[in-house]
Amino acid sequence: METRVLPFTDDAIAEAARLVLAGEAVAVPTETVYGLAADATNAQAVARIYEAKGRPSFNPLIVHVIDMAAAQHIATFDDEAGTLAERYWPGPLTLVLPLRDQSGIASIVTAGLPTIGLRVPAHRAMQALLQATDRPLAAPSANASGSISPTRAEHVLKSLGGRIPLIIDGGSTERGLESTIVAATGGQLRLLRPGPIEIAAQQGPFERIEAPGQLATHYAPSKPVRLDATSAERDEYLIGFGPIAGDTSLSPSGNLVEAASRLFDLLHEAEASGKSRIAVAPVPEDGLGIAINDRLRRAAA
Ligand code: TXA
Ligand code: MG
Repeated sequence: METRVLPFTDDAIAEAARLVLAGEAVAVPTETVYGLAADATNAQAVARIYEAKGRPSFNPLIVHVIDMAAAQHIATFDDEAGTLAERYWPGPLTLVLPLRDQSGIASIVTAGLPTIGLRVPAHRAMQALLQATDRPLAAPSANASGSISPTRAEHVLKSLGGRIPLIIDGGSTERGLESTIVAATGGQLRLLRPGPIEIAAQQGPFERIEAPGQLATHYAPSKPVRLDATSAERDEYLIGFGPIAGDTSLSPSGNLVEAASRLFDLLHEAEASGKSRIAVAPVPEDGLGIAINDRLRRAAA
């Protein structure tokens, strides 16, 4: 894939919006770092973010919205959350909030969690893209997995060149540091990631403390999960893949982007089924399959 780099202009935003609405992920500056943005209501588009980054695991992504009204369509705010939003938005503050039922956000965005990280960005390029697409945009930092966050278009090109269709070049980002993340999901505010905005909140657990199963930021089904299943036992709901049909399938054609996009929905579906156990067909351990298998192993642990 050829990666175009266009300076931030109205035409460039129109092109980025066209690509986003077609299900692509494009790089765009925010006031913190460059983000790799995709339509948060389109699961396959969000799966492409993971594919482009080569991320070996799924974690919940931050969703960018144009304003408070758009945020309130997606999540619920208690008084404290409302006060923080009023004070710091638009700006480098992400609030983790209870997700509304009819939010329209794809489950791969929240990695199956009932909460969502939202922010209203201050950068005109990201604001213009939000306006032009009229969609909430999931956007992690626009770098390949394992490399540092990009603060210039050249960093993005070096890291993701050939893997994404477009980078909007808005020069260096102002903050150069990812947004502060505060959870406002009931009870005390909790600081999940320190960042440009300092907020009085209970500390942590920070995102880097990632002992498996320890972090409340990982969704796990309540039923036992068996992996590499080629057929279902009597009490199992089988999630198929490729030639293994199952009760439902991650992707009948064996497509990993489709499988990633359906993973959390199908785990929830299996959890809600009448069967007491969940079985999952083997998924190849390459490309997006690495992240899918990582998540399945956590679900089975
Ligand atoms: O500055 C930023 O925030 C940049 C720019 C591009 O906006 N974005 C960014 O996004 O850093 P991302 O997706 O890489 O941040 C993801 C982190 C997760 O690792 C997790 O710590 C937190 O956001 N997060 C998101 N949703 C969450 C949730 N529902 N519960 C807990 N933590 C969540
Ligand atoms: Mg990052």
